[in-house]
Amino acid sequence: MSKITVIGSFVMDLIGIVNEFPLAGQTVIGKSMKTFHGGKGANQAVSAARLGGKVSMVGMVGNDDYGNTFKFLLKKENIDMSCVLTSQIEPTGVGLIQVNRLGENKIVVIPGANYEYSINDLEAVKEQIKKSGIVITQLELKHEVTFRLINLCDELNVPIIVNPAPAIKIQEEYYSKITYLTPNETELGILSGISIKNMEDVKRAIKELLNRGVKNVVVTLGSKGAIIGTQGGFQYVEGFKVNVVDTVGAGDAFNGALAYGIANKNKKLLEVVKHANAVGALSVTKRGAIPSLPTKEQVSCFVNYHKKLTTT
Ligand code: RIB
Repeated sequence: MSKITVIGSFVMDLIGIVNEFPLAGQTVIGKSMKTFHGGKGANQAVSAARLGGKVSMVGMVGNDDYGNTFKFLLKKENIDMSCVLTSQIEPTGVGLIQVNRLGENKIVVIPGANYEYSINDLEAVKEQIKKSGIVITQLELKHEVTFRLINLCDELNVPIIVNPAPAIKIQEEYYSKITYLTPNETELGILSGISIKNMEDVKRAIKELLNRGVKNVVVTLGSKGAIIGTQGGFQYVEGFKVNVVDTVGAGDAFNGALAYGIANKNKKLLEVVKHANAVGALSVTKRGAIPSLPTKEQVSCFVNYHKKLTTT
């Protein structure tokens, strides 16, 4: 099993549980409020670590209670936190989240210390990146840092997963340096410039990204599963039927599992995505991002249970 380096965000999620999302200008009375550790970077690191991955995290927290608890909790998950810096200027990032009765979410991230992390800080962890079997990143650090990271991985010949969330348009020159690009359908639409209404649009958009030079495109389709696109064609992975409680962090559960599977070099991408799909599905059955991430044992129980259902 090779080393996984996650370069990304720490965000403390303040989650309001509501029946319906308020409309613009409307006030609604919520049901309850929860505070959970999150942030796409931290979520993906914990997802990979709970499955048994050897994970190092790179990023920045604030010099405050939220930051201290992140350091403590992720160390407890066996994640190497020696490359996590502490900002003396900005507080730990915060997420203002609403989850409705269907488990859908709306998220505003206030980046705080995540946006203090600089290109110079990244250059200082070059050796760490060099030793990685796979690097995974998202778009919750400053974009200039992410783009430098893509170039750095290319220079060092280290494969990189880019989870383009929250999505922005990425300049043409970076696509050929991305080993795995993992948008959801909305993000796929933003990146490709193609409006996604059905599976044909999904395939057209994937082809567009492959033509720009991405090696592997893996699109998460929510309850519908996932689709892999490479120069060799498409492979579809079916979704699981589960009781959806809270979708916060489901994409991160999937992406962390993808990094874990890729770090385990003996597996084919299709097998890796099937496993990641189960991890993502299981995560929506519980509240919160990090608290909802399953362990290796929970995933194998879940997969076996569903196998039995489909064979009886
Ligand atoms: O992907 C879910 C995550 O997005 C949340 O944990 C929130 O912090 C935002 O970063």
